[in-house]
Amino acid sequence: MRDVIVAANWKMHTTPADAGDLAVTLAARTHVAGVTRVICPPFVCLAAVRDALASADPDVAVGAQNVHHELAGAYTGEIAAPMLVGLATWVIIGHSERRRDAGETDARIGRKLARAVDADLRPILCVGEQLDERESGRAVPVVEEQLRGALADHDPERLAAAGLVIAYEPVWAIGTGRNATGADAAAMAEAIRSALAGLGWSDGGAGVPILYGGSVTSVNIGEFLSEAAIDGALVGGASLKPDEMAGIVARAGMTAAARGLAA
Ligand code: 13P
Repeated sequence: MRDVIVAANWKMHTTPADAGDLAVTLAARTHVAGVTRVICPPFVCLAAVRDALASADPDVAVGAQNVHHELAGAYTGEIAAPMLVGLATWVIIGHSERRRDAGETDARIGRKLARAVDADLRPILCVGEQLDERESGRAVPVVEEQLRGALADHDPERLAAAGLVIAYEPVWAIGTGRNATGADAAAMAEAIRSALAGLGWSDGGAGVPILYGGSVTSVNIGEFLSEAAIDGALVGGASLKPDEMAGIVARAGMTAAARGLAA
């Protein structure tokens, strides 16, 4: 049975002075059996969050929000995968805000995945369509192309062993208060698994956890987690709010229990 995962993407929020306290508060409010929890703070807060969680709740994993596609070199201001070793064990790759603001292409995202796997970082690969793409009926082919572009050069077995997670985040739902329906998210999760099968995943991607992201709250999380194809959430704005995260992870715990993961 696939893991149930709730990952917090803090984006460009918190400082080294306050991130540890927020991580400890979130950890204490989300102690629910069977749910894999991950907190992804800004790079400069990774050490503070790691240190705070090491004593408060080592079950909460720490993730980075990005990683460079090269191992080292003249890339001012960038962070390479080997630099994250000891600070993080997960990494978000290909977030739509980076595709938009840093011009990340599918090919480059594929290289980032390789760097992450080489450094034993568990990758969360983000995919998702723009509003006009959904409205014109092209959401599935757009996401299929993102997957093909990022994954084509990878050995499925190696990515599966690295614990690849895919986050479906429709761009029009991020930070807008507008979310996909559970049924639409589940249909996309099925399409993602079909695409993985087409890329040579022997089990048709059946073991790959797929998260939904985009204006997830404690109120709407149930709509997504009641879909068998959805395995959790990548949470932005609500992940900075302890009450919201408590509600989201509590609901994820119900799914974990139903899957027999909570024992
Ligand atoms: P919001 O939950 O703020 O919409 O952000 C979603 C997201 O981008 C998570 O990576």
